[in-house]
Amino acid sequence: MIPELSNGSVLMKDPQRVQEILQSMLKAGSNTLQVISDFDMTLTRFSYNGKRCPTCHNILDNSKTISNECRLKLDLRILSCLLQLDHLLETYYPIEIDTSRSVEEKLPLMVEWWTKAHDLLVEQKIKKDELAQAVRESDAMLREGYELFFDRLHEQSIPLLIFSAGIGDILEEVIRQANVFHPNVKVISNYMDFDEFGMLRAFKGELIHIYNKREGALFNTGHFKELRSKPNVLLMGDSLGDLDMADGVQDMKNILKIGYLNDKVEERKQSYLDSYDIVLVNDESLEIPNAVLHYLTSNK
Ligand code: TMP
Ligand code: MG
Repeated sequence: MIPELSNGSVLMKDPQRVQEILQSMLKAGSNTLQVISDFDMTLTRFSYNGKRCPTCHNILDNSKTISNECRLKLDLRILSCLLQLDHLLETYYPIEIDTSRSVEEKLPLMVEWWTKAHDLLVEQKIKKDELAQAVRESDAMLREGYELFFDRLHEQSIPLLIFSAGIGDILEEVIRQANVFHPNVKVISNYMDFDEFGMLRAFKGELIHIYNKREGALFNTGHFKELRSKPNVLLMGDSLGDLDMADGVQDMKNILKIGYLNDKVEERKQSYLDSYDIVLVNDESLEIPNAVLHYLTSNK
């Protein structure tokens, strides 16, 4: 049906079911479709040339501007904040992807990670007007095929909700600089709160972390109410926590879940196959979501 689904990176527990969902969604028409996607490591690359790409939180410590500036000024306090962010990633990311721990066990540790990271970012006294340059000089990369992905959704007036436990201000800047922040894109994420001098003083609203996207979805009922006429959902994520992103969708008819399995493939493969309809293993592109969207928007 979709030739790309035979690619080596594609795994499906039940290809027949995928076919049924796709057919049902095609029949309903693309005007009934909405896309809900995670950001870090789903719309952005996990790695490039063997090197990990930064997430929203870690763009700032990868930023050449800030680190050069630190080196020049020998501002050890800032430098130490940046190193601590890296250290937090090294400590908590293995917990995030650890299959031997339950979500209940991981949850308080994830809250701890996000809280420490946000406190560190606030300590750095980041300025609003530094963000664009930090993003420009970072190694953050959207996955290959992103132009087609964003542009097609825009052309076809299909709403795209980016639902991220990263940082809204940063992810918006990434997609703005890539010229794909089209009006059909809506973002739910953690947003920075700047003081009157444009200095970061806190984060706004309720914290969104990797395991509370369900609550985040249910908080934003207004958005999902507006999209009531679009009960067919294409969901894209890289974490099992991302599966809850569509919990606010009203009167859902069909959902097709595409999951990127970026790391610890053998350990996590089975749980991904059990939860996502299509699992993409070590696939750094948006080729499969693009092929699915091409199928769903072609007037067959
Ligand atoms: P996402 O919901 O857009 O994927 O963003 C969440 C990711 O951010 C999650 O995989 C962990 C990552 N993260 C960092 O890389 N550094 C941090 O300091 C924090 C708090 C999260
Ligand atoms: Mg992610």
